[in-house]
Amino acid sequence: MGQPTGDEHDGPLVPFLLAGPPPDRTRWEGWQQWRAGRGSFSPAPRLSMAEYQGLSPRRRALHDLHRTATHVNLRLQETPMSRKVSDLMRGRLQNNAVKLSPGTRDGLMISGGGFQGKTETACWAAAEFEDLWRGIHRQFAPGQTPGTRDVFVPVAYCRLPVRATPKALCKTILDVYGDPHPATLHDLVRSVRDAVRDHCTTALLIDDITRLRLHRGDDQDTLDLIRELMDLNVTLVLIGVDIPRSGLLRGAHADPRTGQRAFPAAGHRDAAATQTGRRFDLVNLDPFGYSTPAGITAFLEHLAGIEDQLRLLRAAAGMLTAGDMPEYLFRRTHGIVGLLRRLIEDGCAKAIATGEERLTPGLLAGTAIRLGNLDGLDPDAGEVPDIPEDVIPPEPKKKRRPRNTVFDDHGDRSAG
Ligand SMILES: Nc1ncnc2c1ncn2[C@@H]1O[C@H](COP(=O)(O)OP(=O)(O)OP(=O)(O)O)[C@@H](O)[C@H]1O
Ligand SMILES: [Mg+2]
Repeated sequence: MGQPTGDEHDGPLVPFLLAGPPPDRTRWEGWQQWRAGRGSFSPAPRLSMAEYQGLSPRRRALHDLHRTATHVNLRLQETPMSRKVSDLMRGRLQNNAVKLSPGTRDGLMISGGGFQGKTETACWAAAEFEDLWRGIHRQFAPGQTPGTRDVFVPVAYCRLPVRATPKALCKTILDVYGDPHPATLHDLVRSVRDAVRDHCTTALLIDDITRLRLHRGDDQDTLDLIRELMDLNVTLVLIGVDIPRSGLLRGAHADPRTGQRAFPAAGHRDAAATQTGRRFDLVNLDPFGYSTPAGITAFLEHLAGIEDQLRLLRAAAGMLTAGDMPEYLFRRTHGIVGLLRRLIEDGCAKAIATGEERLTPGLLAGTAIRLGNLDGLDPDAGEVPDIPEDVIPPEPKKKRRPRNTVFDDHGDRSAG
């Protein structure tokens, strides 16, 4: 090739690209693959402009690809809001898992607006629990996996299909295990019970639970079914948009002592039969706030964490955290992590494509937040958040408060 960098000889060129599609977490194999590989993405190296320009054209193109991959694979950062949810969930899963008596386990409902990180927060907390749980099982039964006849699936994660029926919910759960679907609802329910027991599942996560349309007869049955699932020695984690307004808590009363929601036992059929109802904690995953110092600090820390992962060649320190930028980003996204991430992703793509190589309010002003892949969402269930429009970027030159300009880019490094 005649290139001094020895393109063909220094290791795999695209180690950051997945072979094949991303794992499907709603099948146990995919969940295991995701759990094992989560957080293992290696970001592009940080190069100075001079180092970048010293690369061969081919290397430069690959580096750009790696930078792009880095920007669309930003890591999950803990926020005060996500910590609250994951601490509660891990604690609940662990407590329930070590409970020896059979019977109903307290469940957990995770509510919040669309795109606020409910799914990711819950999946990561469940994966951490599973890491721990598998470790314990290895210690107590080395060389032997519980449920040897069947695969050990301590965590089952599934998503409710749009307009779910009881049958559809059962099939969705059976699909996690790859089990066949019997024809009748009765047999389906029995298969689900068997699967959960045989695979030693201790946590059953049902995402997008608010896709139930509770005014329809089907959904009342689905709800009864979900409540019955709580009797399977399994911790039920229900995740959805604005659960309190969804009708899902209908018939439940708030227990002032524990703050939990308690359902009468066994749904509407024998509601009066016993006092031991099914109990859920309801926890909300909130967006960032900008009205208190603590809220602003948390947002700034999140932005600093994002900034640290960006690989733009003319980025100055404080690109996202200094001056008017934080407030502008907040107004663009209303503090919703998912929207912020999308804006940053698209902004970075534009910054690379145009050669601007840094994010500014001006560049972001021309970047619309697009939620691609909308067919995966159910707008009727509130899964598509309102995206603020017509947010005017701050004047570039106006300085509202004195700030440290040591790190500012004065434009003396040229893009070539
Ligand atoms: N703590 C976080 N740090 C960084 N990115 C995050 C965080 N939480 C969520 N995200 C990102 O925000 C986006 C939305 O997250 P997620 O899909 O978990 O939200 P959701 O509340 O489940 O949305 P929906 O209502 O559409 O189901 C994802 O791209 C996710 O990676
Ligand atoms: Mg989700």
